[in-house]
Amino acid sequence: MPKKNLSEVECAGKRTLVRVDFNVPIEDGEITDDTRIKAALPTIEYLVKAAARVTLCSHLGRPKGKVVREMSLAPVAARLEDLLGDQVRRADDCVGDEVAATRAALGPGQVLMLENTRFHPEEKKNDPAFAEALAGDAELYVDDAFGSMHRAHASTVGVTDYVPVCVTGFLVRKELEKLAAAREASGEGFVVIMGGAKVEDKIDAIKLLLPRAEKMLIGGAMSWAFFKAKGMEIGESLCKDESLEAARDILATMKQADLDRLYLPEDVHMKQVEPDTGEMKFAPADGIEPGWNALDIGPQTQKAYAEAVDDAKIVFWNGPMGLFEEPPFDQGTRSLAHALADTDAYTVVGGGDSAAAMSQLGFEDKVSHVSTGGGASIEFVSGMELPGVDALDE
Ligand code: 3PG
Repeated sequence: MPKKNLSEVECAGKRTLVRVDFNVPIEDGEITDDTRIKAALPTIEYLVKAAARVTLCSHLGRPKGKVVREMSLAPVAARLEDLLGDQVRRADDCVGDEVAATRAALGPGQVLMLENTRFHPEEKKNDPAFAEALAGDAELYVDDAFGSMHRAHASTVGVTDYVPVCVTGFLVRKELEKLAAAREASGEGFVVIMGGAKVEDKIDAIKLLLPRAEKMLIGGAMSWAFFKAKGMEIGESLCKDESLEAARDILATMKQADLDRLYLPEDVHMKQVEPDTGEMKFAPADGIEPGWNALDIGPQTQKAYAEAVDDAKIVFWNGPMGLFEEPPFDQGTRSLAHALADTDAYTVVGGGDSAAAMSQLGFEDKVSHVSTGGGASIEFVSGMELPGVDALDE
C-alpha cells in the first residue's frame, strides 16, 4: 500500500517534526560529505515555503545513549544554514522543557535543529514516553530519513503514535520509487554485488537475494570470511569471528543451486605485513600466504565482475571491493564504479563507500540511482519491510 506523501497533505503553518538522516561523516569537526544534508533540502525548503514551523531531528553516529560532544549536530545545523541561506535555530537537546518552549515559539517558516536523538538511550529502545516527548506539539510528522528507515527507533517509529498525520518526505518517496525496480527484480539479468567487511550485517539480505539473483558477486573483506569458511588460507587478512560465522552459515544453509550463483574473487591484491616489508603483489585466491594481508580484488576479478555488470539488466551494488581509502587498494572499487557507469543496465548503488566512490569519480549521474541509505537500501531491495515506512499513513 503506497504511503501518503508530504505533497498530499496540508502543511501550511503546521507544527511539523521532520526526521532527517543527518548521520554524516565528520572529521575534526568538519563535515566531509554533505550529500545527506543536500538530499533533505527539497522537503525542508517546501515546508519553509509553506510557512510550516519546522523542527528537524536526527541521529549522528552511535553514541550509546550518552552525550558525546564529537557527535553533536551543531556542525550539521551550521552547514544546513549555509545551504538554506536562512537561519537554522539550534537546541541543546531533543526533548525537555526548554526544547518544548523553543518549539512552541517557532514562527511560520522557521527551522529548528534538535540535538542528536541517540544521546538518549530511549531512542534506540523505542521508548513510548521518549517518543511522546519528541513528538511534542507536532501536528505533522514527515519522515525523510531514508537511511534510518530500517531502524525501529523512537524517532522513526514510536513518534508516529503521537502525531496525527505521518507522511513520507520527498527524499523517501524518491528512494522508494527508484529502488522499487531492484526490489522487484529476479532471475536473468539481475546482478547483485556485495562488498565491505561485515557479512554478519548482510546475512539476511544475502540469503534473501541469492535465490533471486542471476549472479551475486562478492568483494571486499567479506570475501576473506568466505575463503576462510571454505578452509582456504587468508594470512593476515581481516576476518572477524562474527563474519566467519555468518559466511559459514550462508554456505551451510543455502541450497547448492543458490550457492552456484555466488561468485567469490578469483584473485586478490595483497600486502606483506609480517614481516612488515610493505611489499604488494597480486595472487590467485588460493595463493594468499601467511604474513600477507589481502586488501582488494585482483585484475582478473575486476574484469570478470565488469563483464557481469555489462551483461546485466539490473545491478544492485552495496559495499566497496577493497580498502578503498588506501590507494592502490581502491582499484577494485574504482573499476567496478567504471563498469556501472558504462553499462546500459538499470544501476542502483547503496552504502556510504560505494556511493562515495561514485561521487569521487563524478559518476553520480551515470548510474540510475545512488541511494542515501546503506543498510536501509539493502534491506529494502532484499524484500524486507522497513519499520519506518510501515509506521506511516497509507
Ligand atoms: C546509516 O548511516 O546507515 C544510517 O544513518 C543508520 O545508522 P545506524 O546503522 O547507526 O543505525
